[in-house]
Order: sequence, then C-alpha cells, then structure tokens
Amino acid sequence: MTDASPPARPPDREALRRSLLDWYDVHGRSLPWRIGPAEGRAGVRADPYRVWLSEVMLQQTTTPHAAPYFIAFTRRWPTVGDLAAAADGEVMSAWAGLGYYARARNLLACARAVAGEHGGVFPGAEAGLLALPGVGAYTAAAVAAIAFNRPANVVDGNVERVASRLFAVEAPLPAGKPELKRLAGTLVADDRPGDWAQALMDLGATICLPKTPLCERCPVAEFCAAHARGDPASFPRKTKKAERPHRNGVAYVLSRGGEVALVRRPPKGLLGGMLALPTGDWRAERFADPEAVAAAPVVADWRLAGEIEHVFTHFSLTLRVFRAEAAGEVEGVLWTPTAEASDGLPSVFRKAFRAGLNGLL
Ligand code: ADE
Repeated sequence: MTDASPPARPPDREALRRSLLDWYDVHGRSLPWRIGPAEGRAGVRADPYRVWLSEVMLQQTTTPHAAPYFIAFTRRWPTVGDLAAAADGEVMSAWAGLGYYARARNLLACARAVAGEHGGVFPGAEAGLLALPGVGAYTAAAVAAIAFNRPANVVDGNVERVASRLFAVEAPLPAGKPELKRLAGTLVADDRPGDWAQALMDLGATICLPKTPLCERCPVAEFCAAHARGDPASFPRKTKKAERPHRNGVAYVLSRGGEVALVRRPPKGLLGGMLALPTGDWRAERFADPEAVAAAPVVADWRLAGEIEHVFTHFSLTLRVFRAEAAGEVEGVLWTPTAEASDGLPSVFRKAFRAGLNGLL
C-alpha cells in the first residue's frame, strides 16, 4: 500500500452486513431455484434438492445458461428420488451443453446416495453434505446456508472477488484463496445466513464485476478498502497463468439415410460417458487430410466438411470435420436420427456436427 492510501481499518461488520442485506431485499435476483427474502420471511423454505442441483449446475456456468437446464431437470425429475431412479444415459443427455461431464456422473451418484442411504433427505450439516459423492466444500457450504439456513462460509469466485476488494487483499490468486476465505468468514453470522450467501453472490454477479465494478451503485462501497484506494478493478491480484496448450483432432460425421453414427465415450476421462461423434486422438500436430482419412472409423469416401474451435479448461482444440455416407455395416456406433443427434451432444461435438451437416438436414 502507498502512503496516499487511507489507513486499513477493519470494516464495521454489522453495518456492512446490514447494508448488503437491505440491498438484497430490494435488488436480489429472482431465480428459479431461489426463495426470495419476502417468501423467506413468510416461512417458505428452499428445497435442498433444488438448491443442491442449482449449485452443481452453477459451478460451471452462468445463471442465464443454467436456468433452462434447471427448469428442465426439475420438471422431469421433481425430487431427488426421481433423479436417483433415472437412467444414466438420460441424465447425461439432459446435462449435455453444461460441460464438465464428471459432474453429471457425480450428480447421479449423489442423488442415489441421498435416496438410498438417507431416505431421500439431504443432510443439513456441512459435514454430512461433504460426505456425499461429488459434494465439495463449496457445495456443502452453499446447501447448508441456502437450504438449511446454517451460518456456512460460502465462497465461490464471485465471493473471492468481493472479499479481495472489501479487504484490498494483496495475496494473489490462487495462493491467496485461503486468506480470502478466512476474510469472507469474518462476515458470516447467524442472522439470515442463506440470504447473506446469496446477497454476496448477487453483489459479485451484478455490481462488483470483474473488469468494471459499478461502485457508484454498490451498497457496501463505503466499507470497501479497494474502493477507498481508487483501484478496485485491480483486485483480486492474480499470478500470471501459464498459456493454455492447443490440440488438434478429427471428428467424423458418418451418415446413412436419415441417421448419423454417434458413439458413447468411455466412462472415465474428458467428456466421459457422453455421446460423441467418432474422433481419434487429440494431439499437438494438425492432421493432414490423408492421415485424417486413414484414421477414420470406416473406409468411405471421406470429404472435409469444415473445422471448428473449442476451448476446454485445460486446452483449446481445433477439430477438422470429415463427412461421408456409410456403405456397409459399422461396428460399435449408435445410429441416431439426424434431426435429433445434436440434442445429447456436448458443445464441442454439437459444433462439429453442425460443421459436418452441410446439406444433411
Ligand atoms: N451462483 C452460484 N450459486 C448461486 C446462487 N444460489 N444464486 C445466484 N448465483 C449463484
């Protein structure tokens, strides 16, 4: 901190909490899984199944993207018992487009544990929640706070950013995470813990934005050390990331009448258990046309149809897309009506499928 900075003082915890909760009462977002503050005061309680499901979905995507998935899931599987009884493939297909498919497998494992070992009732304490398959510290805290109104410290990326600014934390991410969590924990109290967690999330999502924080509209700006310094957007500090590696691959759109060949990927690994287009290895070097044709799942008159780019968490990918009509039998593929094929595909293969379609639909 420079000499010009105001002295660091611990924010007035009670006043800060009151400002943010008052703001949440008026400006909190209305979301399909949420019990709003007024309903909460009227005694309506959130359904732990819906809270848990929404939190798992929201760990990997934004609220606008997650909302239609949440609505579709809860219509189709209104209770944890319904989800537990669903066929794996149905759930994986319904999850397609949300990404991180290991989460969909964990989602089912968790639903089955709750239905099978807990009589369909979610545990209310963080420790009990943490013992469920696929439930980590964040989800356990979020469900404990939001569904059971327990004073849990719910810290996701948004909350880390808010805490880093409120306290002007110099420790860079990711090493600074424990410090941010500790500081966020100093603001948790027994009064309205579920609303507190969601108020912090909403502040992070709508006001305390990563690049352009809207401090003039912020209910806690007067308590914010980064705002006082005048450089809130410079928080959280970050350690420079290594560049994402790039890979190349080929995807094959093989058609037969009104159907296309899909495959189910092996259960473990990237996109494990998901439906996919047939594809070979992904590697650093680009695939030349003859090599791509030689690696195809069957001998056919393969033609280059297009090329797509996709960014995964740990690498980016160029997929060259080849297309052909199947001549004879093909082993190990699922013939799927062309018009429906993209529904159950993860985004990367949806893109490739679209590139390969030209004229098929
Ligand atoms: N992001 C993660 N969980 C959320 C929630 N419960 N409400 C709004 N945004 C969220």
